[in-house]
Amino acid sequence: MHMPTPGDQTQGRILCVVGARPNFMKMAPIMAALGDLRSPPGLSLVHTGQHYDAAMNHQYFEALGIPQPDINLEVGSASHAVQTAEVMRRFEPVLDAVLPSAVLVVGDVNSTLACALVAAKKGVPVIHVEAGLRSFDRAMPEEINRILTDQISDLLFITERSGRANLLREGIAESRIHFVGNVMIDTLRRNLERSVPLSQILKDAGREDFLGGNAGYAVLTMHRPSNVDDPVILRTLLETVLKISRRLPVIFPMHPRTRAMIEEFGLEEMLDVPGLLLLSPMGYLEMLGLMKNARVMLTDSGGIQEETTALGVPCITLRNNTERPITVEEGTNTIAGQNPERILAAFEDILHSGGKAGRVPEFWDGQASTRIAAAIRGWLEHGSRS
Ligand code: UD1
Repeated sequence: MHMPTPGDQTQGRILCVVGARPNFMKMAPIMAALGDLRSPPGLSLVHTGQHYDAAMNHQYFEALGIPQPDINLEVGSASHAVQTAEVMRRFEPVLDAVLPSAVLVVGDVNSTLACALVAAKKGVPVIHVEAGLRSFDRAMPEEINRILTDQISDLLFITERSGRANLLREGIAESRIHFVGNVMIDTLRRNLERSVPLSQILKDAGREDFLGGNAGYAVLTMHRPSNVDDPVILRTLLETVLKISRRLPVIFPMHPRTRAMIEEFGLEEMLDVPGLLLLSPMGYLEMLGLMKNARVMLTDSGGIQEETTALGVPCITLRNNTERPITVEEGTNTIAGQNPERILAAFEDILHSGGKAGRVPEFWDGQASTRIAAAIRGWLEHGSRS
C-alpha cells in the first residue's frame, strides 16, 4: 500500500477500485495505459472483495496481468445495503491513508457506487469509466449505481454516444464528459489470440464427446436477479433453453448466484439432458474462446452484449431492455426479454439466416484506454473541478 511520506508529491496518484468480475477486464487496460504515460501518475489498486471465489476472481488477475491489489477489503456477499455499507466503511481509512488525487471506478456494481460516494464526500475527485449507460429500469440494482455514481463523478468516460445525451439530461456538465470508446473491447482485442479453444474447455470438463456430430453450439450465461431469483421466471427460461438445446447444443457456465437459485428451487434434475453442458464460471480466456466461435450467445449480461457485437457473434439478450443500445442499433444484439416465443423466434432466425450482420461501433478499436490515460494526464496537469 502506498502511504504518503514527507516530501511525497501525492498530486498525481490515482486510487483504482475493482470489486466484481466485470470490473477486472475493464481495469486491466486502464492501469496499463496509465502506467505507459511518459510521466505516469502513481497507481494504487483496491479490491473490495465483493467477488472472492477463485473462478470469479484470481483467474482474471492472472490471465489479464492485473497487478496484485495493494489491499483487499474482503467485504464478501451480503444484502445490497450491507455490502455497500461495508465497502464504504472499509474504504474510507484506505482513502485517508493514500490521499490520492482521484479515485477511479469502473462499471456499475455495488463497489463502484460505494467507493465513489466515499471519495465524493471527502472532496476527492471521482473518475467514472463506462459512464452514462442507462436501461431506464430502476428495478435493476446496477441502474441505481450508474445514476448515482455519475452524479458525483468529476470526469466521465463514455463508451457510446447515447451516454452523452443521458448525462446531459441529468444535468452533468458537458465539459466533464469524454467519449473514448470501450475499454472492455481493448481487453478483448488484446487477448483474442490467447483465448482457450473449445476443445480444451471440453477436455477439461471431461466432455470431449459433448458436441457429437453437431457443427455448432450456443452459449448461455444468466445471473440477473430479475431472471434467476423468481422460481417461475427461472423455470420458464430454463424450459426455453431446453427447447433450444434440442436444436443446438448449449454450453452453460453457471454463475454462483444462478447455481444457488437452481438448487433452492429444486430445478437441477430438469437440466440433466444430453444437449446441455453445465460448467463452473469460466475464466476470461476460456469465456472468450467459447464466445468467439459460438453460433449464438444467450445472455443477461451487459458486457457480453458488447463483446458479441465486437466479435460479430449473434446475441439474444434475455432482458426487456439494454443500457447499451448501440449493440442493438449497430451490433448483433436482439432484445428478447423473458418471453419464450420471442426468445425462440430470435433463435430460429439466427439458425436460419445467421442473425443481424452488425458492425463494430465507433471507438471500439482497442484504443479506449489510451484515450482515457491521455485525458486523465491532461486533467491532472490542468486541474478541473468544473
Ligand atoms: C454482481 C453485480 C452485477 C454483475 C455481476 C457479475 C451488483 C449490484 N451486481 O452481481 O452487476 O453483473 O456481479 O458477476 O454489484 N457469490 C459467490 N462467489 C463470489 C461472488 C458471489 O458464490 O465470488 C454468490 C453469493 O451467493 C452472492 C451471490 O453470488 O450472494 C451474488 O453476489 P453479488 O456480488 O451480490 O452479486 P452478483 O449477482 O454477483
